[in-house]
Amino acid sequence: MRQSLIMGNWKMNGNLQDGQQLAKALAEGLGEVQQEVAVCVPFVYLSGIRDVLASSPIALGAQNVADQASGAYTGEVSATMLADIGAKYALVGHSERRSYYGDTNQTVANRFCQAQKQNVIPVLCVGETLEEREQDRTFQVVDEQLDAVIDAAGIEAFANAVIAYEPVWAIGTGKTASDDQAQEVHKYIRERIAARSQAIADKVQILYGGSVKADNAKALFAMPDIDGGLVGGASLDAKGFLQICHSV
Ligand code: PGA
Repeated sequence: MRQSLIMGNWKMNGNLQDGQQLAKALAEGLGEVQQEVAVCVPFVYLSGIRDVLASSPIALGAQNVADQASGAYTGEVSATMLADIGAKYALVGHSERRSYYGDTNQTVANRFCQAQKQNVIPVLCVGETLEEREQDRTFQVVDEQLDAVIDAAGIEAFANAVIAYEPVWAIGTGKTASDDQAQEVHKYIRERIAARSQAIADKVQILYGGSVKADNAKALFAMPDIDGGLVGGASLDAKGFLQICHSV
């Protein structure tokens, strides 16, 4: 049985006070749960949010990680730094990084490897654009995104990684993939992993992301290959996010 994981992605929103209030409300409201809950917060607030979450089971994550270990890379944040500050997870290859900041399958693979070297669990984001879906290229795009990381890190690396399927057309648009559409791609991803290792495919958590809300989470999370969610907009509201956390 895979443990469910519900992960908030705060993106570039709010200030320290907002973040700490939100974290406090989550810590106080979560109660006893079987599933893991995590929040991916802006780099500068990692330590401030860590302090608020210290006595709660909610894990801390970053929204990106450098593709290099250390050195003259002005403006970057290394996996060593993330581990040092107490981040358990780092998103890699979020579609906003791929589309606005030039992340490629290769740089994403490098980020993934850097995170793993420091025992920060990479959350590899994959997913197609609307155009790619309309051209029937969803599986091909997901293959390329996955294969770049498998080639660089090896299939064994997925024993300690998370995959997030986030169709780009569903992110921040209010348009969620239907339960069946999401399940279809999740199943495909798991089979692709299984072709190399059945044991790892059985174990790896595959999250769905893209306009997850309190009113659609339950049905999505009930699908056999959906192991939780990566939640953007709806993770900024404590009540709504807690409802999503309890939808597993
Ligand atoms: P959304 O974002 O829930 O606002 O669609 C999801 C994500 O980008 O991770």
